[in-house]
Amino acid sequence: MDVNLEPAALDQFQRSLERCLADPTFTSRFYARFVLSSDEIAALFAETDIAKQGVVLKRSLYLVMRAARGLEDGLEHLERIAESHSARGLGIEPRHYAHWLDTLIAVMRETDPAYEPALEVLWREVFGHCVAQMIAASGR
Ligand code: HEM
Repeated sequence: MDVNLEPAALDQFQRSLERCLADPTFTSRFYARFVLSSDEIAALFAETDIAKQGVVLKRSLYLVMRAARGLEDGLEHLERIAESHSARGLGIEPRHYAHWLDTLIAVMRETDPAYEPALEVLWREVFGHCVAQMIAASGR
């Protein structure tokens, strides 16, 4: 994953992510909003235990941050979820990813006590790369 950020910007992003993940309601509020946003997305999560999925997402977001730093565990994780979400697995459509990212950033905005607009650019850069990789591997 080739994230175009200086080390200081990646540090700033990581601190924002950590402030969000320290709020135990961050991922559950993300899923509440994401799942309720359309019948199509609600149907994808119909069988999902959202409380458990929140814990899974928390770990996943942290690993994606590690992928942006070029760390092996993060890169392996990203490769694995790109495969699991592809047409060979969950079959997630590329168009769902932009909405996923917009929702994540909207929830970050209301969660990070040190929110500032510059953070949105950083979140978009890091998770945008992650999403691009997942779409490239989606087989769609
Ligand atoms: C960068 C974006 C995303 C990340 C980091 C992410 C992360 C994850 C992770 C870690 C899992 C657990 C299963 C696994 O390891 O494969 C999962 C499951 C799932 N994801 Fe995602 N996901 C992303 C985007 C999306 C999008 C855009 C959708 C659909 C609109 C989606 C729908 C699902 C569904 C339906 C499951 C299965 C839930 C279950 O086990 O019941 N994901 N995701």
